[in-house]
Amino acid sequence: MGELRQYKIAIEQSNIVSKTDINGIITFVNEEFCKISGYNKNELIGKNHNIVRHPDVPKSNFELLWNTILKKETFKATAKNRAKDGSTFYVNTTISPILDKNGNILEFIAIRYDVTENILLTEELKRKEEELKHLNATLENRVEKQTKQLLDLNRNLEKKVKEEVEKNREKDKVVFQQARLAAMGEMIGNIAHQWRQPLSELGIILFSMKKFLVQKDLGKLEEQYEQGKKVIDRMSQTIEDFRNFFSLEKHKNIFFIKDTINEVVSILAGSLARAKIHVRIRARKTIKVFGHKNELSQAILNIINNAKEAFKDKNIKKRTIVISAKKGEGFVYICIQDNAGGIDETIIDKVFEPYFTTKHASSGTGLGLYIVKTIIENSMQGEITVDNRDGGAFFMIKIPIK
Ligand SMILES: Nc1ncnc2c1ncn2[C@@H]1O[C@H](COP(=O)(O)OP(=O)(O)OP(=O)(O)O)[C@@H](O)[C@H]1O
Ligand SMILES: [Mg+2]
Repeated sequence: MGELRQYKIAIEQSNIVSKTDINGIITFVNEEFCKISGYNKNELIGKNHNIVRHPDVPKSNFELLWNTILKKETFKATAKNRAKDGSTFYVNTTISPILDKNGNILEFIAIRYDVTENILLTEELKRKEEELKHLNATLENRVEKQTKQLLDLNRNLEKKVKEEVEKNREKDKVVFQQARLAAMGEMIGNIAHQWRQPLSELGIILFSMKKFLVQKDLGKLEEQYEQGKKVIDRMSQTIEDFRNFFSLEKHKNIFFIKDTINEVVSILAGSLARAKIHVRIRARKTIKVFGHKNELSQAILNIINNAKEAFKDKNIKKRTIVISAKKGEGFVYICIQDNAGGIDETIIDKVFEPYFTTKHASSGTGLGLYIVKTIIENSMQGEITVDNRDGGAFFMIKIPIK
């Protein structure tokens, strides 16, 4: 076998080969060409080579091809072709003119190899890239949307919190009102107690007046009359005291702390006496604070009432409450100490929480110390703490001096 012939076989076995005459009519195809195009040799020989042309390929491509090879040059390109069954295949094509001795074109030979898979993969890759780009774009979009939703949610939440806080404030108002009413009920009891003594005095005075009237002792009668007027003044003063105690102040004022403590204790005098509680007050007359006086009274009253209940609960015999006020660096300290056994260490952190009570059986609402704390913080700009010492609870109120 000649060398050239072997060479030809080698090319034909590894490539897709076809030949056409100068007009593009197929004169030869190899096995590989038949395989990839789906046509058999008989269907191809004698046909125009454009039998495998793909309709997608623009005309200008073929113009360029023909221009090149007619100029006796080699044309190289990746061509998109269509097989018999309509499927697409891609081939890297080299078309060379074959010339005769005189340099005229005899025929054309086209040698190709299949790059369909490559192209398809590249296309697939491109498509994936596009998809990715799109995904990215929509992702940004989605993130933006989500962020906006979150922001909205946040805004809504803020609004809700504000509303809830507002509602809570309303609730606090009601709670304060209720506490005030409850305390008022107790006050009426205290007034009754404080009036018992002057009422019996009045009874005696009236009896004496009748006696002196009968005896026509006008001097003694006058004396008794004046005495009676004094007693009645005292009684109306009691009413006045209670009225003051319960009036709502619009403005904060400067007031003497000792006066306030004295007032609270005198208002509670009746119930403290009945409970056999001894109250000691230790405070300088001159110490002043700034805030809502009546509310501070209410706070002290609540703390004293708790001590009173603790004494009863623990059945303490010798009952003492010490209330002291002293001045320190920039603060006034009001301390209220009882000897009722103290607050259980397991609950002491919770006593200022609203509705925390250990008196479920005896109808405690658990609002007493919550109100105290609210008053100290809001109406006096102060702080309150509690701990146990000397066999009882020790409340310390710290109020800044203005
Ligand atoms: N001086 C005290 N000694 C012992 N325990 C106390 C004392 N003061 C308060 N406590 C405890 O703290 C709890 C909370 O007190 P708070 O005044 O807030 O509610 P309450 O007294 O139970 O109910 P309310 O005052 O609303 O009738 C009480 O239930 C009690 O257990
Ligand atoms: Mg209480």
